[in-house]
Amino acid sequence: MKTVDLDLERGVLSQQAVQEEKTFDLALRPRTLDEYVGQTKHRGNLRIFIEAARRRGEPLDHVLFCGPPGLGKTTLANIIANELGVTIHTTSGPAIDHKGSLAALLTKLEPRDVLFIDEIHRLNAVVEENLYPAIEEFEIDIIAGEGPHAASYKLPLSPFTLIGATTRTGLLTSPLLSRFGVTIRLDYYPAEELEQIVLRSASLLEVPIERDGSFEIAKRARGTPRIANRLLRRVRDFAEVEGDGTISLGRARDSLDRLEVDEAGFDEMDRRILLTIIEKFSGGPVGIETIAAAVAEPRDTIEDVYEPFLIQGGYLQRTPRGRVATRRAYAHLGIRHADGPQGRLL
Ligand SMILES: Nc1ncnc2c1ncn2[C@@H]1O[C@H](COP(=O)(O)OP(=O)(O)OP(=O)(O)O)[C@@H](O)[C@H]1O
Ligand SMILES: [Mg+2]
Repeated sequence: MKTVDLDLERGVLSQQAVQEEKTFDLALRPRTLDEYVGQTKHRGNLRIFIEAARRRGEPLDHVLFCGPPGLGKTTLANIIANELGVTIHTTSGPAIDHKGSLAALLTKLEPRDVLFIDEIHRLNAVVEENLYPAIEEFEIDIIAGEGPHAASYKLPLSPFTLIGATTRTGLLTSPLLSRFGVTIRLDYYPAEELEQIVLRSASLLEVPIERDGSFEIAKRARGTPRIANRLLRRVRDFAEVEGDGTISLGRARDSLDRLEVDEAGFDEMDRRILLTIIEKFSGGPVGIETIAAAVAEPRDTIEDVYEPFLIQGGYLQRTPRGRVATRRAYAHLGIRHADGPQGRLL
């Protein structure tokens, strides 16, 4: 089944790097709610919903996960199926290209199974409409025959749980949104939780790591577990080739500096976006399309991947007239703010 890879699409990683990432993602992916780090409130709620559904012998209510890439949406979908003791059938919005492929998926489901649709905001309209009776009444409309002899009848389905994942709820239609009983918005992780993830992954990969080393990686991971794991692997490379394999604070700092991941966790594109707004558009406001063209990155990628982090960190503001770089962005990049007192960074 086809899944579209955001990292590959955005051209950040080569095909080979994406493959490597997938292998590690699988190896490091938590399998149970207990292994899943952080998001305590959501985890607690899910535990209750799963237990209640299990006791009643009913499928879990439909669940929607939203949030930026790499925060654990796919991981949670798999954990839910695992904790329910059912099979998960994984597909993605663009992969269900017509009614027939939807029907084929739905009729395969056993009672209480999970159907996981990644990038659910990319379902086409016809497929989406056909999904409504399936998730509401557990039945689909089938048309048999052709022309004047065509007859429509309802085919009953096993009761199942739909789990949807999306990087942006704004792109979901309201009829679809309203059909999810549970909506969970995943947020960036604090450094303390990312450190636990780094330590867990280091132990699975059998990499010796010192506490300040793990915290340094966590701090620079953009609040994102996938990036924390990726940085850990890269720092491990430096530690193995140039040292005795141990990740110390010094080793982590040196490697991350060489990878051009700065103190705030910015990578090259984060800096390029802010620098473009500041240097080419006097700090903004400037429209998203203009920024996208100037940095040669698709608008969607900027909105899904970069902007949420820059906004959350207080480096970028979204205003009705466009994006504006904040004083914090100027200070971080070491650029004097034109409105500020002479010679002082704000
Ligand atoms: N809470 C967590 N605890 C431990 N590891 C985590 C957690 N969340 C995510 N990870 C790790 O990060 C990796 C990426 O997570 P996942 O694939 O679930 O993200 P996603 O939200 O589905 O991203 P995308 O939007 O790109 O599909 C996982 O393979 C897992 O190793
Ligand atoms: Mg995913």
